[in-house]
Amino acid sequence: AGSGKFFVGGNWKCNGTKDSITKLISDLNSAKLETDVDVVVAPPFVYIDQVKNTLSDRIEISGQNSWVGKGGAFTGEISVEQLKDIGAKWVILGHSERRHVIGEDDQFIGKKAAYALSEGLGVIACIGEKLEERESGKTFDVCFQQLKAFADAVSSWDNIVIAYEPVWAIGTGKVATPLQAQEVHVAVRDWLKKNVSAEVASKTRIIYGGSVNGGNCAELAKQEDIDGFLVGGASLKGPEFATIVNSVT
Ligand code: G3P
Repeated sequence: AGSGKFFVGGNWKCNGTKDSITKLISDLNSAKLETDVDVVVAPPFVYIDQVKNTLSDRIEISGQNSWVGKGGAFTGEISVEQLKDIGAKWVILGHSERRHVIGEDDQFIGKKAAYALSEGLGVIACIGEKLEERESGKTFDVCFQQLKAFADAVSSWDNIVIAYEPVWAIGTGKVATPLQAQEVHVAVRDWLKKNVSAEVASKTRIIYGGSVNGGNCAELAKQEDIDGFLVGGASLKGPEFATIVNSVT
């Protein structure tokens, strides 16, 4: 860890019931969390109100997605205004499941980021290559292209955290090695330096996601350019998520 305050997000994805979330919240409320860490959870939209009303304010709330502009006649979508109204401070955008399962493209994601930022939400901006892209030596190209789409769309990086999530590591149990993650994080920082500014490069937190768990987080957190984590499966278990939060070095 190096830049800024360590940041750990729990992306609950499309998981949970009222009962399982009640249990998770109670585990999180009783967990001891290091003070010097930003902690955020992203519940499914329908449970945000429950989470907001019962989870300690120590933990901030994120949406898992948001509509690209002001709300209105967009069936099935949730607007940035609604997320703010219900108490969310962040939104995850560009997650690989939205890119590759739902089919969102770079430009659409960039517009979403710009809109969310303009309305005062923080953005967890996700990037990452697929296995075949890594194997054909395109990791940096893919990450830089996704990064450029964010950079082209936004006017300030003050409220953005970048999440590097290699697609082959998400939900597979195949975590990137600390060196594999560090290599991409350095490259992302370097890209920001060349294409945005030295200040943004040094201040922006770059977090890692993809099969992070209580057993592998400490080694990853030691890397200079890993400034936190975006956690999927392991964020559904309160004590394990707390271990990941507390892996800050
Ligand atoms: O956004 C977090 C995520 O995609 C990683 O998921 O289950 O591999 O930790 P998981």
